[in-house]
Amino acid sequence: MKNSYKRVDAHLSSLGYCTRSEAKLFLKKNLVRIDGVRVLDPTKKAYHTQITVENEPLDAETITILMNKPSGVICSHDDAGELIYALLPLRYQGRNPKISTVGRLDIDTTGAILLTDDGDLNHRLTSPKSTVSKIYEATLATPLRGDEAEIFASGKLMLNGEKKPLLPAKMEMLLPTKVRLEICEGKYHQVKRMFGAVGNKVIALHRVNFDVYSVEELAFGEFMIIAI
Ligand code: URA
Repeated sequence: MKNSYKRVDAHLSSLGYCTRSEAKLFLKKNLVRIDGVRVLDPTKKAYHTQITVENEPLDAETITILMNKPSGVICSHDDAGELIYALLPLRYQGRNPKISTVGRLDIDTTGAILLTDDGDLNHRLTSPKSTVSKIYEATLATPLRGDEAEIFASGKLMLNGEKKPLLPAKMEMLLPTKVRLEICEGKYHQVKRMFGAVGNKVIALHRVNFDVYSVEELAFGEFMIIAI
């Protein structure tokens, strides 16, 4: 685990407690201690683990969150509309480096999404080489025709615009118009395009799991910090 040694104002601003220029006032208004001794000088240096704010340890230096994404929010920092980051506490929104989603879910897709400020982790999980499992429940416009599971499992399905076929995916029918689908890659609009390729249309999409992380216990918009 990281334990940076730097100025108190640098700790506070990178963790979103205040900006660097607000640090002096923040220290005046809040009980910030280094090894139990109150600090008022923002330039004082300390290790992350030495500092408390109002008797609480500082937030972790890197943070990874599992959220149950509601419909209608956008996985982007700069699109117009309601952004997923607005669902996080203000302090998390002020962190630098910024917390970003690990990949994206479409605006109308709900379910498991990780958010992290750990750039290496994000890169590893979203790299084209990553084979992290993602499990979706998809509701379809028309009943299954019967050959979809075999086509998805074949490792031969080519989506328009892709150079290689998709990796084998596991599909299980829940209802004639509802499936559970496990994929281990993350192409753009992959699930919707897969059903488009077999003459159907996804009308609702929920990601139940990202890797081992399930959102079963979380309401839409709720999140938990995870150790990964
Ligand atoms: N596949 C899609 O089509 N949309 C998503 O949001 C995720 C996977």
